[in-house]
Amino acid sequence: MSSPRYIRHHDLLLPSEAHDAQSLEYAQNFSVEDTDVFAVTYPKSGTIWMQEILPLVLNDGDLTPIHTIPNWDRVPWLEEKRLAFVVDQLKSPRALVTHFPYHIMPPSFHTSKAKVIYVIRNPKDVMVSSYHFHQMAGFLEDPGTFDEFMEKFLEGRVMFGKWTDHVKSWRHTALQDRIMFIAYEEMVEDLPAALRRISEFLGTKLSEKTIQKIAEHCSFKSMKANKMSNFSLIPKQYMDHDKSPFLRKGIAEDWKNCFSSEQLARFTSVICKEMEGESLSLPWSL
Ligand code: A3P
Repeated sequence: MSSPRYIRHHDLLLPSEAHDAQSLEYAQNFSVEDTDVFAVTYPKSGTIWMQEILPLVLNDGDLTPIHTIPNWDRVPWLEEKRLAFVVDQLKSPRALVTHFPYHIMPPSFHTSKAKVIYVIRNPKDVMVSSYHFHQMAGFLEDPGTFDEFMEKFLEGRVMFGKWTDHVKSWRHTALQDRIMFIAYEEMVEDLPAALRRISEFLGTKLSEKTIQKIAEHCSFKSMKANKMSNFSLIPKQYMDHDKSPFLRKGIAEDWKNCFSSEQLARFTSVICKEMEGESLSLPWSL
């Protein structure tokens, strides 16, 4: 089922405010470079966090772009309308971001040596974050009640489809050492350690002083105060931070404040069934 707020791409619903047939064709024909780095996420898993981190790790902690370019142009979305306008301004190595599942990545991605950092977050917290996001984002459907939204989320009637399909699509690829998985919760727990892992994966040599500087800049508090990163530049009709800020809580296990025991049982049974046989090694259980 689609509504004017969404368009269909393959089996997915995408917000029409950010995507159209032209931008999706542009993404399909996009020429991926070997040095490109993609942050890949299911929505509300820490996308803008990785958007903040990547340019800093790739450019020895240089804060200039972070203070002068909004995140959506600094690390553009592969599938969104803005990419065509900013692509020529991106410096190599380029950092990009996408919510696409693996199988709809452009052909040039598959033949390139581009790297991927996949951020995975506890789906219960993803759903809570998404519920609040749907309340503040004027370009998305009203989420309805928490119960109603849970059913939509579990059935994949939300942007970019089911969480389980997304995770599975990126877990079963031929990318081998081109992909790194990192948990949102690992970043919450110890950001400097997460940054060291990311830097090692990308082959950037950063001093401990630079790691600490990046960690400080990418803290929830710093990002919330940075107008280039907190979406306060977006008109209120698209994002109403009075309803719920984009940088809302930035914690793990907020779901414990939101789920009833019945909701937890329903959510867990569906997700566990769909993830059967997947041996995830993560700081949380499904
Ligand atoms: P909450 O709504 O739980 O606070 P995305 O960027 O994929 O849309 O994800 C948004 C979620 O990531 C929000 O979660 C947001 O607060 C969180 N987030 C963004 N930057 C963060 C940071 N520096 N530290 C912790 N969480 C962050």
